[in-house]
Amino acid sequence: KEIRYFSEIGSTNNEAKRLAAEGCPEGLIVVAEAQSTGRGRLARGWFSPFGKGIWLSVVLRPPFHPLDAPKCTLMAAVALTKAIRKVTEAPCGIKWPNDILYEGKKLVGILTEMSAEMDAINYVVIGMGINVNIAPEEFPPELRDIATSVAAAAGRPVSRLALLAEVLAELETVYSLAVRQGFGPVLDEWRKLTITLGQQVNVLAPGETFAGIAVNIDNEGALLVDTGQGVRRILAGDVTIRP
Ligand code: BTN
Repeated sequence: KEIRYFSEIGSTNNEAKRLAAEGCPEGLIVVAEAQSTGRGRLARGWFSPFGKGIWLSVVLRPPFHPLDAPKCTLMAAVALTKAIRKVTEAPCGIKWPNDILYEGKKLVGILTEMSAEMDAINYVVIGMGINVNIAPEEFPPELRDIATSVAAAAGRPVSRLALLAEVLAELETVYSLAVRQGFGPVLDEWRKLTITLGQQVNVLAPGETFAGIAVNIDNEGALLVDTGQGVRRILAGDVTIRP
């Protein structure tokens, strides 16, 4: 598979989208040592210092319906969690839908972007930001309470190359599983790796907020929250786990 490596770039997702729109093959990878305008979800930025993380985007052309694209994010979360656990043995877990946390702080963020026709996906770009060797004091003050790194979780510096190889291997495994057997087995793996289910959560959904207990994710990857007055289904939004 082709890997495009940059010392510095604006955003690997933007470059991957550009190459995907030009017709690059599936599996192309864009990776950079640093991003000057790394992007996060909900129009946030993404702290991407030189040489300290894995700032990576993968182009896929999955044979799925466009409505299944959010499941690509769940798929990436499964691959990343397995890879980090394998390399570090740190007990990290997935917070629905796609943050990977260690001790309540974020290790990894995933930003999936898609281009689709009516009923076919043209491309999906899965952007992954892994905080690998960032010391706590190196995060900007506003991130110190919410962000951590794989090295902090492991208690030692971690080889980015070894972790990257593991992430790509796991991603290939879980993606080919989804293509061959659908998302059922992937969602089962997700359920095993999550820290959200069974927790009291606050939900910030488009246009409203509410609280409840996260009871499951359904076959679409939506989170089911029992509010006490019935079970609500959330396909997109942010949850915070209540202490
Ligand atoms: C989030 O908000 O949690 C998602 C963060 C995604 C960051 C990654 S870093 C590589 C890729 N390029 C970007 O500009 N963003 C993603």
